[in-house]
Amino acid sequence: MLQQQQLPEQLQNQPLWIKHKRPILLLLGLSLCAAILGLIFYTHYKLHTKNNNQPVTPCVSPACRKASARLSTSIDPFTQPCDYFLFTCGSDTLWQDSGSRQRGQGIPGHPQNQMEKSAWPGRVPENEEKLQRRRGKDKTLNRKTVLLQHLKEILESNDMLNSSAVQKAKGFYHSCLDTSSLENTGAEPFLTLVQKLGGWAVSGKWNRTDFNSTLRLLMRDYATFPFFNLYVGKDPNEIGQKTTKRYIQIDQPDLLIPIEWNSKTQKSEAKTETLRPFLASCQRYLAMLGAPPSNRMIHVGLFISLSSELAVAASPLHYRLVKGQLHQRMTIKELQEQAPAIDWLGCLQATFHPLSLSEDDHVLLHNLPYIAQMSRIITKWLNKHETSTSGPLHTFMVLSLLHTMMPAMDSRFSDTRRNFSVILGNTDQEAPRWKHCVLETERGFGSVLTHLLSERTAQREAEETIQNVFSTFKAKLHELNWMDQKTHQLVMEKIHSFTPRLWTSEEISRGAELDLTFSEVTVSTHSFFSNYVQLLSLWQKRRSKLLTDPSEPADIMSVTPVLLGKDIVFPVGMFIPPLFHSTYPRAMNYGAAGFLITKDIIHLLLPEILSHSETMRAVGKCVWDHYLTVTDGAGRGSVSRLSAAQQQELWLQYFALQVALQAYQQSLRQRPGDSSLSGLSHTHLFLTAFSQINCDTDPYWEFMPLEPSFLITVICAKTNLCPTSLQCSLRPQQSSVQTC
Ligand SMILES: *[C@@H]1O[C@H](CO)[C@@H](O)[C@H](O)[C@H]1NC(C)=O
Ligand SMILES: *[C@@H]1O[C@H](CO)[C@@H](O)[C@H](O)[C@H]1NC(C)=O
Ligand SMILES: *[C@@H]1O[C@H](CO)[C@@H](O)[C@H](O)[C@H]1NC(C)=O
Ligand SMILES: *[C@@H]1O[C@H](CO)[C@@H](O)[C@H](O)[C@H]1NC(C)=O
Repeated sequence: MLQQQQLPEQLQNQPLWIKHKRPILLLLGLSLCAAILGLIFYTHYKLHTKNNNQPVTPCVSPACRKASARLSTSIDPFTQPCDYFLFTCGSDTLWQDSGSRQRGQGIPGHPQNQMEKSAWPGRVPENEEKLQRRRGKDKTLNRKTVLLQHLKEILESNDMLNSSAVQKAKGFYHSCLDTSSLENTGAEPFLTLVQKLGGWAVSGKWNRTDFNSTLRLLMRDYATFPFFNLYVGKDPNEIGQKTTKRYIQIDQPDLLIPIEWNSKTQKSEAKTETLRPFLASCQRYLAMLGAPPSNRMIHVGLFISLSSELAVAASPLHYRLVKGQLHQRMTIKELQEQAPAIDWLGCLQATFHPLSLSEDDHVLLHNLPYIAQMSRIITKWLNKHETSTSGPLHTFMVLSLLHTMMPAMDSRFSDTRRNFSVILGNTDQEAPRWKHCVLETERGFGSVLTHLLSERTAQREAEETIQNVFSTFKAKLHELNWMDQKTHQLVMEKIHSFTPRLWTSEEISRGAELDLTFSEVTVSTHSFFSNYVQLLSLWQKRRSKLLTDPSEPADIMSVTPVLLGKDIVFPVGMFIPPLFHSTYPRAMNYGAAGFLITKDIIHLLLPEILSHSETMRAVGKCVWDHYLTVTDGAGRGSVSRLSAAQQQELWLQYFALQVALQAYQQSLRQRPGDSSLSGLSHTHLFLTAFSQINCDTDPYWEFMPLEPSFLITVICAKTNLCPTSLQCSLRPQQSSVQTC
């Protein structure tokens, strides 16, 4: 105001000059006025939005430009305050086919792995059509999808890295993408492989190779386990002890024939209604592998007959759990007595080469009755077909190998498999090829990807965010109303005993080390098949390493923290764009990654916090009431009463959002000034980043009764926190909003 008053004075002091330059000066004065007004308006706005008065520098890094482009195409929670909580998040079909990724640790589907299994449940959108209209699927940020996309970018990047291991990983990935080469070579490479195993009677001559040595070869070189499965994992009876050793675990196999459990007879049996299509698909495979029509029926018949016999002894997990058949410990020698048809020591030694094993080493079994029965069946079939040249056991093993090699076969094979799985009722869409290839690359070159990923992660910034969030979290816990002093103390003691940290680089192999590890791998540009064979042996090496190395391997595909002793270890996969980047305004990092960190910490450390504090119920109820008021129950599900788990999740996410925001403000106090993006104010940017991860799924997802973005409305009800007041209601008039 002062400056504006001074202006006329200046004009009076220099009348002569004005005479000549009046029009120009007038213009100048006007624009000055406008500029000053603008400045005042801007300052006023900044004050109003409670930002620091630091000059805001726009972030123009490549990562920020990308993020900015992304923001411009997504819904702004403030300009379209109604939009974001009217849709529900979609499902990511990739995570429904659980077979796409199998780690050699633990038993898939076993109780100890249940969290992992249900970690990424496929969500059934309530209104798919509405969802598609409102928001393209690609815009939903699911941590797993984000990580895969990021790994894809890394693998496709063209930086001149000199590491040979990196070049090999990239070469492998590209050969996987090259489907036209795959089509051109057809079944030839597989048939060559069969010749190496002594041929087979299906299309040619079988050299009557030794059963035990073929099995050893399949297990050692091709990660194929036709008659039983092998894993490496801990013994749950030992968990909790200081050193937990890993063991070889032997389980029933994944038979190709579809089986079902008959609860009356307590036996598995082949699904009769699928036998005909199964038979047809087997015949098609054999035809594609060059079997003459006259031959096919005999071999397929024998294969199905052997498969059905083996299937009878297989049983589902719940049955084996009840019968106490899981994690049954015995020595290899004892196992040999129980199942003499297999050369156990030889097989296991081959698989875990160069490790030396002895007869007295312990293994864990997960279905001993199956293993014993399988041994009897093999002996019976060996005797029955001793004089014949058809070799059904050999054919069975070769078809198992075909199954292993399927990802590297041409599309006729995968189409046949897909058609059959459709008959089995599998309606999932096929994941795009690149996703499949990223996952395959990870299976063999996991350590290389981990190295690349951690190299690109801003470790200092990530560490700082983790620490800030954790200390704010601890401080904010004190503000809650606890049931009693003792509970409060116990919770705080527990929290204080843990140290959060990033998965450090010491645990991650360095470049030179990696080059050595992969020195024997030669990646060919045009033969994915031969690359894939090498991948299988890399995979086997990884398994062996798991058995000897006591340290926990960094799991690159993990996107949630884990507890290792007294450490809460955060995987680097949580600190990638668009969730996190060193050049991003911190507002974005805290809004997305900061929120996720808080949420995960609470889930990990205080899974049953609801029963310990009154505040949570009250806050959860307040948020829910608020939601009901605004939507009139028109949102997701119109339940008016929430279960305890839902109340907890609602409180938890709201609390996590508050913690993340407070941690950000604390970070601003420590280190004032933050860059900006798309001209958004700090808080606006923070909340926008938060709304971007609306569709993140974790095991607790199903308990969240509303879209997390709605929490923005709730948090903005606090005076002056948000850039603009959010006025959204599906009801004609909105009742006044209380603060939660
Ligand atoms: C790259 O590798 C080559 C040979 O492997 C070596 O001679 C050269 O010094 C390396 N360059 C860098 C920058 O490491
Ligand atoms: C079968 O054995 C014969 C004689 O040992 C050998 O010449 C031939 O190459 C073998 N064939 C295959 C497919 O291994
Ligand atoms: C495989 O090896 C086991 C153990 O040495 C032996 O008992 C069994 O007879 C062998 N099977 C065949 C078919 O040679
Ligand atoms: C798979 O099914 C489709 C449609 O039913 C059919 O057109 C195609 O030929 C089948 N492919 C194979 C390899 O069986």
